[in-house]
Amino acid sequence: MSFTKKIEVTKADDSRRSKRLRKTEFSLVQLKSTWKRRTGKCLSQNDKGRVSAAKLFESVTEHGHSWTVVSPIIFTYKVVQSQNLLDPSNDTLLSGHIRDLHQLEAFKSSAKPVKRFVVIDETVNNIYGSQVTKYFEARNVIYRILPLPTTEENKSMELVMKILEEVHRFGIDRRTEPIIAIGGGVCLDIVGLAASLYRRRTPYIRVPTTLLSYIDASVGAKTGVNFANCKNKLGSYIPPAAAFLDRSFIQTIPRRHISNGLAEMLKMALMKHKGLFELLETQGRFLLDSKFQSSNGLGDHKDAASVSTRVAIETMLEELAPNLWEDDLDRLVDFGHLISPELEMKVLPALLHGEAVNIDMSFMVYVSRERGFLTEEDTARVIHCMLQLELPVWHETCTLSLIRKSLCERLQHSGGLVRMPLPTGLGHADIFNDTSDETLTRAFEKWYKELSSSDHTIPETMTLNLSQHV
Ligand SMILES: NC(=O)c1ccc[n+]([C@@H]2O[C@H](COP(=O)([O-])OP(=O)(O)OC[C@H]3O[C@@H](n4cnc5c(N)ncnc54)[C@H](O)[C@@H]3O)[C@@H](O)[C@H]2O)c1
Ligand SMILES: [Zn+2]
Repeated sequence: MSFTKKIEVTKADDSRRSKRLRKTEFSLVQLKSTWKRRTGKCLSQNDKGRVSAAKLFESVTEHGHSWTVVSPIIFTYKVVQSQNLLDPSNDTLLSGHIRDLHQLEAFKSSAKPVKRFVVIDETVNNIYGSQVTKYFEARNVIYRILPLPTTEENKSMELVMKILEEVHRFGIDRRTEPIIAIGGGVCLDIVGLAASLYRRRTPYIRVPTTLLSYIDASVGAKTGVNFANCKNKLGSYIPPAAAFLDRSFIQTIPRRHISNGLAEMLKMALMKHKGLFELLETQGRFLLDSKFQSSNGLGDHKDAASVSTRVAIETMLEELAPNLWEDDLDRLVDFGHLISPELEMKVLPALLHGEAVNIDMSFMVYVSRERGFLTEEDTARVIHCMLQLELPVWHETCTLSLIRKSLCERLQHSGGLVRMPLPTGLGHADIFNDTSDETLTRAFEKWYKELSSSDHTIPETMTLNLSQHV
């Protein structure tokens, strides 16, 4: 009954639509302090430079007027690699986000004291807190530093509200006093969401302190917290005013968290950059041992850290910038993220994000091999590289039924297509919608047989042709 009614309404809508009398496209021109509509014909030479990129479309039907607003919104943000970020002689933290030269001059010559609200991960505060305080003291900044236990288990609206209350109490000018977040991906995601809510959009700055957040969480636009036991269910697509990256923070993160970040780097390598893959293959273990610190006098290897982080960020930005709001659902950066969200939340806190991503990638590499996109040798090279980076390549909770369930959910949330990124060679990839259940099953059986007992060592069957590469 209700279904029939729906059809009637639709028909009525259609007939109404067909009786449209007039549709006009307007540009918007600024005249002194007011905006006026102009049709294309009426735009004069004098209007140049004062025409908005926005448009108004007006329809007139026998039932009245309707307007459609098209208002392009541009986001501009900086990702800046910097050294000695906490050295008081370094301006980056206070003014590195200002792009306009006049504004920068005004900032430098202003007598008004600078004010900053800083949220810092509690562990990071224990290690770097005194340096942060010294920096703001030396620069005569009016500041408030809020250390918080920003762990994955605490990644919720509660911490967002806590930040908002403290920001409100401290008081900031939302145009000129960005909130600063210093910590790993969890801290940056929570603060980003709080900033995007405060006064509808307050600028914020990201200072990543883990490898994963350095190459991944800090370069894009996403903010978020977990909700209803689902990862990042609440969030926004509001990029920071700037991300300031200082690799020296990485030296104090635990080894396991270096591997964790290397997984996201390997993702970009497998999808887009053979050179990065080869670098990880040959220098990955060194990067892990040296914690991405170049200045440790290890000669030839010393550039691996700067090259690998730069390429990881460049390849990530290439994919993110044209698709900041993820409207295009075909995304190579989703590699390793089809099964892993379900797996990660199911075993939380047993697997770190990057570890779950790696298990997903390891399985997908077997799918690629099964489909004939990767040779036996390439597959062995990838798995060997993962093991060198001390990443898990298999997990008992990652069963065939969990894989099927995750892919079904993906179908529902991705417009009816699974959009499966798969490597089609080392450093090349494409998106596929035609992987059959038989292929998945065969890939799973081989994956299980070859890797379930791997126990962090390369299975004997795979070592045959590796010596020439590593
Ligand atoms: N917004 C995005 O685009 C994006 C992208 C990828 C991941 N993420 C999110 O990032 C999170 C994972 O980030 P993460 O791996 O950085 O985890 P994390 O923020 O939990 O940090 C890992 C651990 O390292 C500690 N730590 C941080 N910096 C340290 C330092 N310099 N020295 C010593 N200890 C330090 C933290 O206290 C924490 O215990 C996930 O919640 C994920 O959803 C977001
Ligand atoms: Zn990820």
